[in-house]
This record gives sequence, C-alpha cells and structure tokens, in this order.
Amino acid sequence: MRHLIDPTDLSVAEIHEILTLAEDIIAHRDRYREACKGKKLATLFYEPSTRTRLSFTSAMLELGGQVIGFSDANSSSVSKGETVADTVRVIRCFADIIAMRHYKEGAPLVASQYAGIPVINAGDGSHAHPTQTLTDLLTIKREKGRLDHFTIGFCGDLKFGRTVHSLIKALSRCEGIRVLLISPEELRLPTYMLKEMRAHSNLEFREVRTMEEAMPELDILYMTRVQKERFLDEEEFDRVKDSFVLDPSKLAAARGDMIILHPLPRVNEIARSVDNDPRAVYFRQVENGKFVRMALIYKLLEWADENRPYERTPVFDREYVVGGRTCSNRRCISATEDVDQLFRYAEDGTLRCAYCETKAK
Ligand code: CP
Repeated sequence: MRHLIDPTDLSVAEIHEILTLAEDIIAHRDRYREACKGKKLATLFYEPSTRTRLSFTSAMLELGGQVIGFSDANSSSVSKGETVADTVRVIRCFADIIAMRHYKEGAPLVASQYAGIPVINAGDGSHAHPTQTLTDLLTIKREKGRLDHFTIGFCGDLKFGRTVHSLIKALSRCEGIRVLLISPEELRLPTYMLKEMRAHSNLEFREVRTMEEAMPELDILYMTRVQKERFLDEEEFDRVKDSFVLDPSKLAAARGDMIILHPLPRVNEIARSVDNDPRAVYFRQVENGKFVRMALIYKLLEWADENRPYERTPVFDREYVVGGRTCSNRRCISATEDVDQLFRYAEDGTLRCAYCETKAK
C-alpha cells in the first residue's frame, strides 16, 4: 500500500508524474470531474488548518468524490482517549483514503501501519509537510519553468518549519540547487539535517545572518512564520518572533524575476505592501495546492488499485532497531501512544527515531 508520509516516499519520476498530472488537471478541468466518483476521503485534522484541509476537501469534491472527517479532534472519540492506530482502523471502514494532520510528530506514520488504505501526511508537528512540498514544487515549476539550477533562500524559522524540512529533502535530489539559510541563531536548520544534506545530497548550503546579504543572489525567496505553537518557552519565542520581516525596502536589492513563496499563514513576516509586487506568488501558490492534491489523491487511489510498490524502500522496510532505547522528543507520537519504539541508522551514522527523526537517547 502506498502512502505519502515523507517527501522521499515518492521517487523523482513519481513527483514529476504528479506535477504533470496537476498541470493537465489545470488545463482540462472537465476531464477529471468524475475521476474519483464513488470514493471517499477522510480528513482527520488534530491541529488547526485552513489551506491544507480545505484544499484537500475542494480537491476531492472537484474529482467527483466525497469527504468525511473532523477538523477538531475534541469533537471525535480522540477526546475519550482513542489512539491514532484505533482511529484509523475505524476510519478504513468508512473511507478509501486518509489525509491526517497531527501535532505529534510521526502520527501519520503510525496511521499508515494500521489503516490498510492510503494515508497522506498533511503535516505532523515540526517534522514534515509533504503535500506543501508538492505545492511548492508545482509553483516553482509553473513560475520558473524548471526544478533545477536555481538559488533558493529559506528565511525565518528553519528549526521548527516542517515545510522547509520537507522542501529541502525534495530538492536534495535535484541538480544545481544552491540553498541560503537565513535565520536567527535559535532557529537554525537542525544540525543533523544540515550534516546529512551536506554529505548525501547535491545541494550547496550557506548560512547567512541577514536578508540583505542573501537577496541579490536569489531566484526564490521562501519566507516562513515563526510558529508560536512550537515553542515550549514563551520568552524564547518573544526574543525571535520579529527577526526577519520582508518589506519593499529589502526587496530593492532583489532580482526582478525573483519569486517570493510562503506556505502561509503569515503573521507579520511579509509586509502587506509586498502583496502587490509581481514577485509575490504566495496566493497563487495556495491555488496550486488544490490542483496538486487532486493529482495526489488520484494517483494514490490508482496505485492502491494496482498494488504499486514503492520505488524506494519506505521507512519500515529499512533495517531498523526495535526497543532498548527511547525517543527524547516530547513532541513525538512515541512519547504518548503505545507504539513500537523503532529506530533506524541515519546516513550520518546516528540512531534516529523512525517516527520523528530525533536522535535516540
Ligand atoms: N500551509 C499550510 O499548511 O496552511 P494551513 O496550516 O492553513 O493548512
């Protein structure tokens, strides 16, 4: 059974297949009006969302399918203590495919072990957000005409920003990509990820401390919000929350054909006065999210029917170590639910939790 839990669950060829289908859907909307007739999508959202949940809903409706689910876990039996594993074993009786967002890292991976139907990770804590990645890739492809040979600057919260982690992973398989990391010291990209990407990807990285320093080099500026909900310490959040704000004065040094992406929602990190700049594409990016999710739902249902195998080995087929250790991440699903403690060796030789990629204790 194919799921989308991590961007690397899709091969490069499959990503292109999904993006090409999304572009065909954009060009020929009428052809897909009944493509998923008779199928149901369950949207299980344990954490707030506007774009992801509604674009999944809209995507399934435009494919002629139906949608069930919850947008507030407190209105479901989760509030009585039902686990992720039991919840999806129930949902599989009612739906053909699941999109799950969860504040616990690794929850969609647990769901994929028990669901028996395709599970899509719609964002798990600060870990991963692979459908935002597909959205970002489709936007880059449509705006720049290519998915290789560009310089991209990631700005803001690179520590907790799941959209950043997932997009960097996806870009690691593309050619000729330079990555500038623009963040305060407290919100730098996790060291293990930087090490792993430096050692095992084609990406060229540089960390910079100011937007001004990076701006003239960029083809793409990827802005992110500093996420209050990820901080355990409010004082630390207050210290960094206003670190990087994009306004017209900062854009003066940018190229005319640079594009500005943002997964949204934004707070104050992009001034409203930037919205009318032709380089601001973040609202077009939202619409691409619906088309790419249409393509993804269509493909995962098709692949489930034909029992298509993974082109790479998914996480649970890799060699892993069971038990004997615990994950040190309080945000990991393994900290609160009775799941097998699973670890795997990362490329850098460290033993990491299979659910959230945190180093084992
Ligand atoms: N980009 C994104 O995930 O937005 P939502 O939180 O509104 O779904």
